[in-house]
Amino acid sequence: MQASRRKLLTLAGLGVLGGAVGYAYIKGVRYPILALTPGVSPTATQQEGIEVYANGAVYQGTTDDGSIKFRAYVPEPSLDIRVSSGRRWRLLLENIHPDATLAIDTPPGLSEERNNLTRIVEAESKTDGSWQLNWRFPKQDAYRFTVIGDTGGGTELDWVLTRSVELGADFIVHLGDLNYDKGDLHRAAEAFNKASIPSFVAIGNHDFREGWQPLYEHFTQLIGPRNSSFRLGGIQFLNLDTATDFWPPDRGARLRLLQQFPIGEPDPAVQDFVVFTHRPLNTINGPGEADWLRKQLLNRGVNSLLAGHNHIKSELDDGGLHTFISGQGLAHADLIVGRPIAEILVADVMPGQRVHFHWAPLNMQLEAHCNSRNWGVLEVLDKPEPLARLQAVCKK
Ligand SMILES: [Fe+2]
Repeated sequence: MQASRRKLLTLAGLGVLGGAVGYAYIKGVRYPILALTPGVSPTATQQEGIEVYANGAVYQGTTDDGSIKFRAYVPEPSLDIRVSSGRRWRLLLENIHPDATLAIDTPPGLSEERNNLTRIVEAESKTDGSWQLNWRFPKQDAYRFTVIGDTGGGTELDWVLTRSVELGADFIVHLGDLNYDKGDLHRAAEAFNKASIPSFVAIGNHDFREGWQPLYEHFTQLIGPRNSSFRLGGIQFLNLDTATDFWPPDRGARLRLLQQFPIGEPDPAVQDFVVFTHRPLNTINGPGEADWLRKQLLNRGVNSLLAGHNHIKSELDDGGLHTFISGQGLAHADLIVGRPIAEILVADVMPGQRVHFHWAPLNMQLEAHCNSRNWGVLEVLDKPEPLARLQAVCKK
């Protein structure tokens, strides 16, 4: 009797385990931390008398004064607004280029203001109605962007944003790892808002989890989705999540994004792809994952990949995929060598051409290294002279 009960329990346990493995196989599982359903960015809100559906922006909540807040994760987002008569509404949309223009089907009484990268739109509807607001990026065929990752969310990120503007960038592609210290994700979101150009950000392993604590839901709420795409001029951008390993690789949101670009059916309007992600494919350990991803990209005519994660500046041929590694966002190399040597990747888009990349000095000011994390780095590396120099600057 006892033995058959034990057998029954074992069978039930195996059944549950089998079910869990089956579910994981169908949906795919992220590890470490075994995340089965990593967060998605909410892109819509329904409230009393108003519904807003975003294309290319994440819904972030309602502010104390009742404004509905979104953050754009593409250069040209749009908002679909359905309002009941008499509803007065105010909407904030962050991360919009200062010179972007709003195109609307001229609803009377609607006003738009700009506060740095935030657009403030408000109106009162006299009747029930629906409006579509589309923002157009100020440059289409020729523009510049910078590419770098691994900045953390502190003073180094501030410098990277400043330097990107100095270099003439119209926006920054950030390759992830904002969260090196507690609270960094919030600090990074604030820094991105204070910058004078928008940012489009890949999720890094440090943004996905903090130890065994999942962080991806904060990332997707504060910054944007783990996988997304946009087209600007003739360039198709793909932001792919490689923050942690994924098994089986051909599942989930990343697959659904890639399926939007069918193999063997190239769009003649696309002159080049810019694929950006956190980890170079040769650092991905999931079984078959790097090979699958590489094949997916090459089969679609992608010939280069932008990645960070390794805190170096480098280029390598990864099975036919030219990989740029731009991971010097903390510029630790400068501290160690005692002079600015770190670099940032700069990309130029010209009409009808593939994207042209070159490296530029990051020129990080010593003051930008003033955080206690760097004392530890220099102590561990046994660099007393650079440490003394940095401490002297930071005391001022
Ligand atoms: Fe990383």
